[in-house]
Amino acid sequence: MKISVCGKGGSGKSTIVVLLANEALKRGYQVLVVDSDESNSGLFRMLGFDRPPVPLMELVGGKKGLRQKMGQPSVLSETNIQTAQIPEEYLLKKNGLKLTAIGKILQSLEGCACPMGVLSREFLKKLDLAKDELAIVDMEAGVEHFGRGVETSIDSVLIVVEPPLESVNVGQKIHELASGIGIKNVWAVLNKVPTEEIATRLKAELQERHIEVVGCIYFDADIFNSSIEGRIPVNGVTVREIKEVMNGILSRAGMPTPE
Ligand SMILES: Nc1ncnc2c1ncn2[C@@H]1O[C@H](COP(=O)(O)OP(=O)(O)O)[C@@H](O)[C@H]1O
Ligand SMILES: [Mg+2]
Repeated sequence: MKISVCGKGGSGKSTIVVLLANEALKRGYQVLVVDSDESNSGLFRMLGFDRPPVPLMELVGGKKGLRQKMGQPSVLSETNIQTAQIPEEYLLKKNGLKLTAIGKILQSLEGCACPMGVLSREFLKKLDLAKDELAIVDMEAGVEHFGRGVETSIDSVLIVVEPPLESVNVGQKIHELASGIGIKNVWAVLNKVPTEEIATRLKAELQERHIEVVGCIYFDADIFNSSIEGRIPVNGVTVREIKEVMNGILSRAGMPTPE
């Protein structure tokens, strides 16, 4: 299963990616995290790595190399890619967890992020997962990636929604765009919820927009406070909540849900 974690900037996409990745590992899945957010650089640290992987953009000769290849039928190789075939320096591994990254915007005026979108799209299309393997994609904020077709080979989209109405509205747009390209598994997860009352109200807002909610993560001061170090605590209430979210995702996607 390839699942893309989307939502407004700051809604908690990377946090949820890390929590889901750890939970999937505990359940015996092989997990590949794909960093497809070209503007944030801390995902490797949040996952417990001490350096980022060399971006796949460099494997294809940088943005310039990619542009030259864009007119050709395929950006990467012709054949499908299994995780094990990703060259070593582009794939970090730790305790069964794997991380690969598309690329980052490093300088001002270096041009737009479209080539990253093209590479994300092509990579995800060619990525050939094993039956017990999950690819969890940390997507860039907002909806532009849909315009670049990044999701064309994604089978599930998880929208992270936090209390501000703006986040609900971005979620609605993502739901429309994902459904519009034929993705059937499009769900929301509530995040940073302060009270049960707000959870109920958020669920109602999403229900009105025909968006199914797979779970709720309450505001967790430990998570927020750890973010000053760029890390995520691995124990605590949120870890229990993410189990529910994982059950909701796997059962809806028809995957085994080992505890
Ligand atoms: N459930 C939560 N409780 C408290 N803080 C959270 C929670 N989820 C995310 N955060 C905090 O919100 C901020 C943005 O989260 P992040 O995962 O980086 O968002 P995104 O990837 O969507 O930009 C971080 O400071 C993070 O610690
Ligand atoms: Mg992020």
